[in-house]
Amino acid sequence: MMSLRIIVVLAVLTGVTGSPGVTIRPEADPADMTAHPNSVPETVAATENFGQQEVPGEEEAEEDVMATGELNPNHYPAQRAAKVVQHYLNTHYGSPFRLFGLHSVYSGNAEDVAESGRRYQLELSVQEIISNTTGKCSAEVLFPRGEQQRSPQVQVSCEELLKINTKAQEEALFQKYKMNQSLLSAQNLPDSYGHIEPDNKPLWHLGIVASSSVMLNESTENTLYNMAQVANITQLATENEELKFDCHILLHEMVSQEIIHWKLLFTWSPPEGVKVLQMEQLPHCHHCEKPPNTN
Ligand SMILES: *[C@@H]1O[C@H](CO)[C@@H](O)[C@H](O)[C@H]1NC(C)=O
Ligand SMILES: *[C@@H]1O[C@H](CO)[C@@H](O)[C@H](O)[C@H]1NC(C)=O
Ligand SMILES: *[C@@H]1O[C@H](CO)[C@@H](O)[C@H](O)[C@H]1NC(C)=O
Ligand SMILES: *[C@@H]1O[C@H](CO)[C@@H](O)[C@H](O)[C@H]1NC(C)=O
Repeated sequence: MMSLRIIVVLAVLTGVTGSPGVTIRPEADPADMTAHPNSVPETVAATENFGQQEVPGEEEAEEDVMATGELNPNHYPAQRAAKVVQHYLNTHYGSPFRLFGLHSVYSGNAEDVAESGRRYQLELSVQEIISNTTGKCSAEVLFPRGEQQRSPQVQVSCEELLKINTKAQEEALFQKYKMNQSLLSAQNLPDSYGHIEPDNKPLWHLGIVASSSVMLNESTENTLYNMAQVANITQLATENEELKFDCHILLHEMVSQEIIHWKLLFTWSPPEGVKVLQMEQLPHCHHCEKPPNTN
């Protein structure tokens, strides 16, 4: 029964956009985030292996209903809600020296909340990738219901993870960037071999944190976003006590298997963190129509 269920949900991934039920391997992503941002496509490999399986119609229909009650922590509904917690932590606490990745989900529960949406309660562990520290967190994620898509609301408490102090490193990097005569810029972080020059790592990390704001804002119960690449990032001149960057990022939406391009304008300073000032979704490619749902 269990293995059939896994096959079914993987098969659903190939065919149905936005289907809620897919199994993923939780260990595939965060630890490798720095070196192999595209590592999650382990799921893609699994899809290729299992994608040909016959899907019994009844099972598929069952999977299309939003899971409610106690969730299997390794299945997509719990994993997707937990991923939103990762984006929230990066958005609010991320820095070039502090990056969060989802480590594992211990338990999850989902319920309908009359009028307002669906609420997930999660017990999870999150990894701070740069110091390689893992800690437990409890979180609540509310996906608002309504005509207009609104971003999920997150409340999270983590035992130890947020105490990691990176202020000195941040201040040193900030001063180094601030003092430099020339404005920084970099392309293809990482390149197609998964490589990033050590000097460019902080820019990659800044790009990840800024991307988390977009992924947090765009997430729904039916999405699972991962950062794929900073296509390019350029520092802009500023008068005040912050650094400003223009960047073009590629996000990987795992459910639809789409690569989505965004252009961001953000600032960074150690006391204020990363603040996204503008986000704009770009057409998929130069020859494509602009998608109707751009901001
Ligand atoms: C991170 O820590 C874990 C356990 O503490 C260890 O097994 C692993 O090798 C570490 N990874 C890196 C990249 O240092
Ligand atoms: C977040 O997304 C909503 C739509 O879901 C959009 O209206 C809003 O402008 C976005 N926020 C930013 C900062 O772009
Ligand atoms: C200033 O920026 C340039 C271009 O990125 C870089 O090559 C150089 O090493 C930087 N200098 C310092 C002192 O960081
Ligand atoms: C940044 O990368 C995108 C996607 O590859 C490209 O379309 C854009 O022209 C690049 N911008 C700059 C300033 O290099």
